[in-house]
This record gives sequence, C-alpha cells and structure tokens, in this order.
Amino acid sequence: MNVYDGWRIAAMLDAHGMTKTDDAADADIIILNTCAVRAKATDKVYSALGRIRLGKKPDAIMGIVGCVARESGADAFKRVPDLNFVLGPQSYHKLPEILENPDMRLFNIELSGLEKFDEMPKLEKSPLVTYIPIQEGCNHCCTYCIVPYTRGREISRNFIDCVRDVELAAKTGAVEICFLGQNVNGYKYIDENGHTYRLSDLIKSAAKFDAIKRIRFTSSYPTEMTNDLIDMFATEEKLLPFLNMPIQSGSPDVLKRMNRPYDLNQYMDIVHKLKLARPDIQISSDFIVGFPGETDDDFDQTLQIARTVKYINSYSFKYSPRPHTAAAIMPNQIPENIKSKRLTTLDAELNEIQRAFNESCVGKTLQCLCEGPDKTGRHLVYRTPYMQQCIVAKPDGDPKQICNIEITAANKASLRGKIID
Ligand code: 5AD
Ligand code: SF4
Repeated sequence: MNVYDGWRIAAMLDAHGMTKTDDAADADIIILNTCAVRAKATDKVYSALGRIRLGKKPDAIMGIVGCVARESGADAFKRVPDLNFVLGPQSYHKLPEILENPDMRLFNIELSGLEKFDEMPKLEKSPLVTYIPIQEGCNHCCTYCIVPYTRGREISRNFIDCVRDVELAAKTGAVEICFLGQNVNGYKYIDENGHTYRLSDLIKSAAKFDAIKRIRFTSSYPTEMTNDLIDMFATEEKLLPFLNMPIQSGSPDVLKRMNRPYDLNQYMDIVHKLKLARPDIQISSDFIVGFPGETDDDFDQTLQIARTVKYINSYSFKYSPRPHTAAAIMPNQIPENIKSKRLTTLDAELNEIQRAFNESCVGKTLQCLCEGPDKTGRHLVYRTPYMQQCIVAKPDGDPKQICNIEITAANKASLRGKIID
C-alpha cells in the first residue's frame, strides 16, 4: 500500500509541474513516505531526515507523509525543527494545497475517508501490473498492530469507482490487476439501493475486461475468506492460484493473545477449501516471532504450521512493541536475542520450503508476465503466477507481455526457463 501511495503522490506532483530527481541535494521538495508498522521503520525515517537535512538546499521544503506522520503528529516538528509539513495517510491529495501555503508548518493527520483515491490524478499510462486500492484501514485490532490507529477503521471504496479504475487500467495498458487493501477481503460496499458488493463481485467484473489476463489481491484476513471468494478460485481462471493469507503464529495461545480469534482447525479448513477450489493454489503468510509470552513450544508450533501448509513467498518479523497497542504493555516481553534466534530458525525453514517448491516447478509450464530485462540486458525477467522470478534468454524482437514458459531449472531465489509460446 505504501509503495502504491508513493507512486500516486509522485504522479500527482508530476501533474503539478514538478520533475523527479534521485538526488536529495538537488531537490526543491523532499517528501518521505513512511511506515510505522515496526519501530525500525520509524527510526529509519528520523535518521534519514537527520541525514537529508544536512545535505539539502537551504530553502528546500521537507515533509513526511504516511503512518509515521500520523503517529508522530506535532511531535515530528519537535524532533526535526526544520520539517515543513506532516501529512497523514488519508490526506495525500491535499499536498499541492499545502505546498502552495507559505506557512507550511501545518499538518493534517485526520482519518478523513478515501476521497484521496479519486481526487488524485489518474495515471495516463498504466503499468502492466496495476494496483487498485479498494479499501483502507482495519477493524481487526490485532494487539501488536498499529495499523488500525494509523490507517483507521475499515472503509471500502465505491464499487463503481473501483470498476472504473479497472476499466481505465485495461484501456491504458494493464494486463494484471492487483486489488489492494490492509484487509482486502473485508471489502464491503453497500450502494444506495442496499445492494452489497464484495471482493468476489469486483473479481468477476475485472475478469470481464479482455485486456486483463491476471487478477490477484492482497492482503487477506483468514476468517474473511468467505465461500463466495473461495469459489472465485474455482470459477475465474484469471484469478492467480496464489494467496497471501497471514497466519502470524501457529500457537493457539499466542493467537489468542494477538486477538486473532481463529483456531488452527478453522484456518486449515479454509486452506483445504481453497485447495479443493484450485488444487494448484499456493499460500503465503506473514509471521511474527517473539510475541510477548511466546514459549519454545509456541514457536515450534509456528514451525510446524509452516511445514504443514508449505507457505511460499512469506515474510517473518521479530515482534516490535508499538505505541497505542495492547501487546506493548503485556508482561513477559521476549528478549531480543531469543527473538533473533527464532527468526533465523524460521527463515531457514521458509527458505527450505521455497527451494523445494521452486524445484517442484521444474518441467512444468507456467504462464508468466514480463517485467523487463535483467541487469545484464541479455535476459528477460518474467513473473510466474506464484510471484517467482523466472529468467529467460532474450528472444529477438519485442518480448511478449504474457507467455507460457517451460521451467528448466530452479534455486532458492529464482527459476530459469524457456519461452514456449
Ligand atoms: N511487530 C512485528 N511485526 C508486525 N507486523 C505488524 N505489526 C507488527 C509488530 N508490531 C507484521 C505482521 C503484518 C505485517 C504487515 O507486519 O506480520 O502481517
Ligand atoms: Fe494489523 Fe492486519 Fe491485524 Fe489489521 S488484520 S490489525 S492490519 S495485522
């Protein structure tokens, strides 16, 4: 979501006559788009600001946007006195207005709704993979997570606006659509006639556009994988057989303290239903290790569930206490050295599962999407339906955007293949 927000902000400033520079020392306006999900991300923002302010032009405008802006509020001005503005994640569309204000030391961190997505200028040419934000915020209130505070309660965009965004993307070059939201499968829009639209309705509408060949969505909350959505994996061929559905921990006790009120049977039930709908589906997860009170036994259960589900493309993090969250003041916080040890163990397990999955792809033919040349310029990088990188020799002529590739070799990080058609 943050990467997407960054693109939209850049496009908006471009539409206001500004040009991008890669050198902060050369910039007239410097904006840091920030993440507050773990303390390390927040700390990096302040150390980057400290570095940038020393090298910037004396009259360059400097501001922060995003979740750290929302979390720090006016305190950000105390920490970095020459900061010009602080703007929360739902107010990006106000940037041009703020940049024109001579007294810029104002900030807007209210959670005001999703007008930003419709008020910011649309891209004239869509990238091959186009992200369509459909909801923002989260109602789940996991006890470790700052997102409900920084992005607010869930709001879903108007169904018609989302479909219009897909149509525009299809007309301007997109072949893959990724629906985006912190709790994307919680998407729920009720129109003026009382009709409810869900993510499954958006997938069906997107699949009708001929230009759109691949559809995916991220990130999903397990118990909101309703049957209508699971059925999409059986009926909509364009929906990729890959789903990010974080479990966070394999221990029922830890899940309870995380306020993720599902049990492992329920989770595995959803996994089985998904596999029935689409036997070749693969699932990815996020994991948190070292949550307060996590025992060796709890951690073993996380390793166990990782092996059982055989998660691919997963992310694991050390628990990081965050302001405004219940877990930050829970007893039995886990020492840093134990968190690090568990993270190393889990990462090794996840890497091994990924390597085995990549190797199992050898000999198969996968439909892949072109991302462009690699660093050497001699190969093309394609993306498989499972988001693996696949390297092929560069053919003569223009590369096909989507093609079938036979996988010929694999390692932990990527695949190699040859274009079939
Ligand atoms: N500490 C560590 N990881 C966290 N995440 C969210 N909050 C925290 C935290 N306080 C992770 C979760 C989530 C991902 C985006 O970030 O795994 O799925
Ligand atoms: Fe945070 Fe995701 Fe939990 Fe929502 S569901 S509170 S975004 S971890």
